[in-house]
Amino acid sequence: MTERPLFYELLPATLGDLSQLNALEKACFPLDAWPLIEQIAALTFPATIRIKAEHKGRLIGFVGGDIRRAHQTGWITTLAVLPEYRRLGIGEALLRAGEQALRMPLVKLSVRRTNLEAQLLYLKNGYHKVETWRRYYEGGEDAIVMEKDMPAFKL
Ligand SMILES: CC(C)(COP(=O)(O)OP(=O)(O)OC[C@H]1O[C@@H](n2cnc3c(N)ncnc32)[C@H](O)[C@@H]1OP(=O)(O)O)[C@@H](O)C(=O)NCCC(=O)NCCS
Repeated sequence: MTERPLFYELLPATLGDLSQLNALEKACFPLDAWPLIEQIAALTFPATIRIKAEHKGRLIGFVGGDIRRAHQTGWITTLAVLPEYRRLGIGEALLRAGEQALRMPLVKLSVRRTNLEAQLLYLKNGYHKVETWRRYYEGGEDAIVMEKDMPAFKL
């Protein structure tokens, strides 16, 4: 029997998604889920991008990012997919949609040193390691900073 592909949509996220975003954060980031105030900022602040993956009205994934125009850089600030919807290509689709929405010639992000799943996703999508921030995360874990050139958005 062949499995049917999952139908989901990538849509702009809004403040109305706050409670579902909060549930996603808790499910995906047990050590350092964003506090509610940061989630509200991610859903409302200017110079940020926010895209959700939705399946049958349920928020199953989210990507957020900051546009730092002065540095011509976009930062992917969060990326998450609910555990039961992983390895279906949704994380990759959100990442690509986030990069396009940022519209910056350079995209950067940070990831926990031990988060190999996410690092594999970023390597597969053209990111490379540029530096390490020692003891950056809650619990003292290092951050690996990765970046990717986006030639389509060079001035
Ligand atoms: C990282 C995360 C967003 C990936 O989402 P996803 O929808 O499962 O990812 P995709 O299905 O698009 O995977 C794309 C590629 O990433 C890599 N990858 C993703 N998860 C992987 C895993 N568990 N093991 C190995 N490779 C993995 C693979 O190269 C995969 O391509 P393939 O399926 O063709 O082999 C998801 O695991 C997650 O939400 N994790 C918890 C939150 C988190 O760590 N976010 C990143 C913070 S920096």
